[in-house]
Order: sequence, then structure tokens, then C-alpha cells
Amino acid sequence: MSLQRQHRRKIEGSTLIIFGASGDLTSRKILPAIASLWDQDQLPDEFSVVGVARSPLGNEGFRKLVMSSAAGWESAANYLENFHYLQGDYTSISTYQSLAKLLDSIEQGRQTGKSRLFYLATIPDLFGKISSFLGESGLSQNGASDSTRIIIEKPFGDDTQSAQQLNDGMHRSFSEEQIFRIDHYLGKETVQNLLALRFSNAVFEPVWNRNYVNNVQITVAEQLGVGHRGNFYEHAGALKDIIQNHMLQVLSLVLMEAPATMTADSIQNEKVKVLSSVEIPPVQDVVSRTVRGQYFNGVINSDEVRGYREEQNISPDSKTETFVAMRLAVDNWRWAGVPIFIRTGKRMPKRETQVVMEFNRAPHLPFAGNSARQLGPNRLILRIQPEEEIKLVFGAKVPGQDYNIRSVAMNFSYANTFREASWDAYERLILDALLGDRTLFLRSDEVTKAWEIVEPVQQAFADPDFPLYPYAAGTYGPKESNKLLQSTGHYWHNS
Ligand SMILES: NC(=O)c1ccc[n+]([C@@H]2O[C@H](COP(=O)([O-])OP(=O)(O)OC[C@H]3O[C@@H](n4cnc5c(N)ncnc54)[C@H](OP(=O)(O)O)[C@@H]3O)[C@@H](O)[C@H]2O)c1
Repeated sequence: MSLQRQHRRKIEGSTLIIFGASGDLTSRKILPAIASLWDQDQLPDEFSVVGVARSPLGNEGFRKLVMSSAAGWESAANYLENFHYLQGDYTSISTYQSLAKLLDSIEQGRQTGKSRLFYLATIPDLFGKISSFLGESGLSQNGASDSTRIIIEKPFGDDTQSAQQLNDGMHRSFSEEQIFRIDHYLGKETVQNLLALRFSNAVFEPVWNRNYVNNVQITVAEQLGVGHRGNFYEHAGALKDIIQNHMLQVLSLVLMEAPATMTADSIQNEKVKVLSSVEIPPVQDVVSRTVRGQYFNGVINSDEVRGYREEQNISPDSKTETFVAMRLAVDNWRWAGVPIFIRTGKRMPKRETQVVMEFNRAPHLPFAGNSARQLGPNRLILRIQPEEEIKLVFGAKVPGQDYNIRSVAMNFSYANTFREASWDAYERLILDALLGDRTLFLRSDEVTKAWEIVEPVQQAFADPDFPLYPYAAGTYGPKESNKLLQSTGHYWHNS
């Protein structure tokens, strides 16, 4: 299967089993995505959903949850009876025995095969246990004509070793081809468009290398604080929450070589290759390439907001980072010597995810005196969210008698260009998993490579003396982040 979906197969009657049916992700993302897929006629009438969790919801309670989660679902009345609920504890084998019976009876009632997609939208500590019980109870087997697949949500482990253990554990019950590791960034239209932009145009690829690119900047800025996810965030921090997964995924798509074909393995091979080329610094060098920060109170959109340590479920002397900036190097023929700057933070002035390719300056400017003083470097800006757009910044003459040159922007916006609506990331990914298309999911070796890159940073952050710089909410992080770039003659491009 591949990214080119014009020959999409139709989904046959199958069952989605949600572990974590009463949880946050299920009601915010999974159930609305299923409802929308039915509305768009992407799921057959025989498709069923089974929710599993401890809360005593029953079928009726689960269906109510579906209705409240998928507000505005047009075809709800046709499909509500396709939702079933099983109350059970994931740590007890009897839950899986009951689940097997329930699935058999649904499939017999609907006269469908045994195509099953398990979705682990639950506490990551339970992933290993659930997959081993699915194996023990015979639920992980792939039938001759039916498929059994499993989706897992991040985090995929806590470090290289635990990620490897999780992979090994899951491989005891499921083959790699059955496992779909979600990074919802890959479901975003603009992230997929990175490959279209690079590999369907003749103009960009020739300059996409160390001869023309001066530096690359990737920013994932969040305006929100930790909200009600304090307990989770205290143990994660920006490094594990954003950099290890979303940012390294975007980085690999921006910097990888052209795949031989647009199939899952071809693309994943190239992603793994470029991740393998990211230089891994010794722990003692991390401090000179990395800035760690934490927000204190400040103002965003004229509103006073609390500092991180005043947020709910956060320790008053927490050292968890809410901001990380790093300078990376990619040691291969294409990128040797080009600094790759990445940064992510909470409580920044606005929500934005973007990649900036900054090109070298023109070798000589034949214009008199000050006429080009307002001219910045050429930049290609790939905006991933909230707006999905591509912007090329270049020099143009300011109208008038004088010959002044200033930077201007040429803008391509998804929303203004295409009439077709962008798909929600979860709709795209759930549908792909049902179709068995692994292109937009992570392979086990990608996950371990990404952990290897952040591992020395994790170790450095564990040192109580590693600096944690404060920054005011509503700013682009601590000033040390600017210094990180200034030390090599660069500066951040904020939008
Ligand atoms: N929420 C998000 O925005 C988000 C974003 C990205 C990734 N994720 C990932 O998605 C996964 C789920 O996150 P979440 O925020 O939805 O978690 P959550 O709200 O805490 O939900 C956990 C779910 O697991 C069930 N559960 C926990 N222990 C159980 C047990 N022993 N037996 C049976 N059921 C059990 C809970 O059901 P009962 O309480 O009914 O027992 C609940 O349905 C995690 O891997 C998370 O990292 C979440």
C-alpha cells in the first residue's frame, strides 16, 4: 500500500475495538473521526465498534458518550446500534475471553469476517500487558482471509531501552506488519505535502542541500499551557512530548532522500536513514547545543496566565521543561555543515508549527549604498498549523523612483486554493489502518532511532545542575534560545 490512494480498496465489514473507551482521546478524537467517516460514506453499514474500559457504561451509556462526543453527526440514527460496550479490567484474562465471545457474536450477527482493529487509547504502561493478553487469548492471530491489526498511541516507551522492550513485547503477539504506531502529525495534510512539494517539483530539490541552504528551523509553538494534563506533562516534558516524536518526524520528511516509490517501506527506509545520520552528541556536549526552559506567569492575548509551577497537578518546584531548543547536525552528503535548529514550547505567543528553510544570501548585491538594507535571506516557509500554507520570501523592488529592495512573500494557502476539505488527521489514520496502509505510521526502527537521538539529552537533563531557564508566558522562550543561534551567526524567524 502507498500514499497514492487513487486505487483505494473499499473497507469490508470489520470491527474497531477501543481500549480506553471512556477516556479523553476516545471522546475527543476517535469517536468524532468514526462518525465523520460514516457521514462521508467511507465505512460500510456492517462496521462495528466495541468499547472496552472499567467504567460501568453498558451499551446505552457508551452510545450516549458517542452522541455527546460526535455532536452534529448526521447519520447517527443509522449506526448507533453498531456500538457495543464491554466492561472489564485490562489486567484480567477474563476480559479478553469475554471480548472474544462478544466479537464472535457481533461478526456472526452481521455475517462479516473476522477483520479486527484493536486501538490502544489507554495508559501506555498497559500496552505490553494488553498485547500479551490479546496474544494469549488467541485474539492477535491474523486469519487467512481476515486481518487483525493493532494501533498504539504514543509514547512508545520512555527511552531507547523501554521502547525496545515494548517493541519486543508486542512482537511476541503481533508481527510488525500488524502494528500501527500513530503519530497524528503524519495525518496532517501539510506534513504529507512535504513529500509532494519536494518530489513532484523540479525547482525545489536542486537547491535542497548544503550548497544552497544556510540553515533549517523547525518550530512547534503551543499557546496553551498544560491545562488538565498536568499529571501527564510533569512526567513527559517537551522533549518526550513533542521532540522525540512529532519534531523528529517532520525533520526526517524535510531532510530525507527521495524514496524509490511512495510505498510505506520505501519512505520509512529513507526516514530511518536520515535519522541515523543525525549526530548524537556526548552527554557533556548537550549543554552547549541545547536550551531548556520553563514558563512563568505572563500575558497572552491581553490575558494574565499562570506560570507552569502554579498550574494544576504541577509541583511548585518542578524542573520539567516546557521549552526546548536544540542545534542538530546531520552528517551526510546532503546536509553536512548545515545547522538544523529545532524548538518547541508551551505558552508561546501563538500556536504555530512551521519549517523554515533559510537559503544562502546572493553572492553579490550590485545595488548602490543602502538600497538592499531591508532585504532578508530567501526563505521557504512551510506552515503546518494552524494555517496550512507555503510561503516563499524573496527580494523585490519597492515601487518609486528610488531603487530600494525589500523582502516580500508569495503565499500558497491550502484553504484558499482547494475546494476539497482537508481530512482530520485521525480520520485519515484510522481509515489507513483499516485498509492496512502503513505509510503514515511509524516502524519500530524509526521509533528507536528517534529515542537514540534524544537519549543523551535525557541524560543531561537528569543532572540537577543542567540549566533550566525561565521565560515569561507569551514569549518565544528564554533569551538563551536566541543566543544559541547567535553563537553561529543565525537568528530565529518568528512569523
Ligand atoms: N488525550 C490526548 O489528547 C492524547 C493525545 C495524544 C496521545 N494520547 C495518548 O492516548 C492514550 C490515551 O490517553 P487519554 O488521555 O485518552 O487517557 P485517559 O483519559 O486517562 O483514558 C484512559 C482510559 O483507559 C481506561 N483504563 C485505564 N486503566 C484500565 C484498566 N486497568 N482496565 C480497563 N480500562 C482501563 C480508562 O477507563 P476507566 O477509567 O473507565 O477504567 C480510560 O478509558 C495514551 O497513550 C496517551 O498518551 C492522548
